[in-house]
Amino acid sequence: MNNILFIHASPHGKYALGYRLAQKILTEGTFSRVSLVERDLLAAPLSPLTHRYASALASHNIGDRIDAALTESEQLISELEQSDRLLIATPMHNFSVPAALKLWIDHVVRVNRTFIASAEGKQGLLHDRPTTVLVSAGGMLQGDNPQPDFLTPYLTLILNTIGIQNIHFVYLQGLAFGEPAIANAWNQAQAALTRAGVLTNEIP
Ligand SMILES: Cc1cc2nc3c(=O)[nH]c(=O)nc-3n(C[C@H](O)[C@H](O)[C@H](O)COP(=O)(O)O)c2cc1C
Repeated sequence: MNNILFIHASPHGKYALGYRLAQKILTEGTFSRVSLVERDLLAAPLSPLTHRYASALASHNIGDRIDAALTESEQLISELEQSDRLLIATPMHNFSVPAALKLWIDHVVRVNRTFIASAEGKQGLLHDRPTTVLVSAGGMLQGDNPQPDFLTPYLTLILNTIGIQNIHFVYLQGLAFGEPAIANAWNQAQAALTRAGVLTNEIP
């Protein structure tokens, strides 16, 4: 069963290389698809966090009642609950996740809803699922002279916090260095996805 949730967070939308690679996975990938929910965080921006939302999160008395301030958060969490495979295509912005993806995180990482805080630390409440993260970057993230990368450890930790442990990162890097570098990044990313068993053909 593959109910896929596809999150993308590039201001370039469907022209982003990460988006195009995600489409290749969705159309030619090794997993059969039952359903697809697509969230374009730039084309359909999420609401900024409000005072009511922050207050609702701080309240210990919500119980089973869903406050109206949590409606959008509930919708996003429900999309996670109903999916069993997660695909995220995101650019690196200023060494970390772009603001649109951070806002999605702030809507779905909720105490007593997607994680609980205990003496042993935070424990995720969502089921684990295979998760592929496609990261696009103008500079290099791996190799001889990589830039600092706060995106990978941060996104890993935050997904772990809500219960998602099975995460595989694939990098489209060096995209600011012109056409040969872009072609190389595309081929390297496809090779990584092939090694991971997500794609079957290394070179189209
Ligand atoms: C606001 C902003 C910040 C950026 N910061 C970084 C960065 O820290 N490191 C990097 O390698 N590229 C950075 N870039 C370049 C993007 O990561 C690069 O253009 C990438 O190809 C965008 O991928 P996309 O086409 O999927 O949006 C930044 C771009 C923008 C717009």
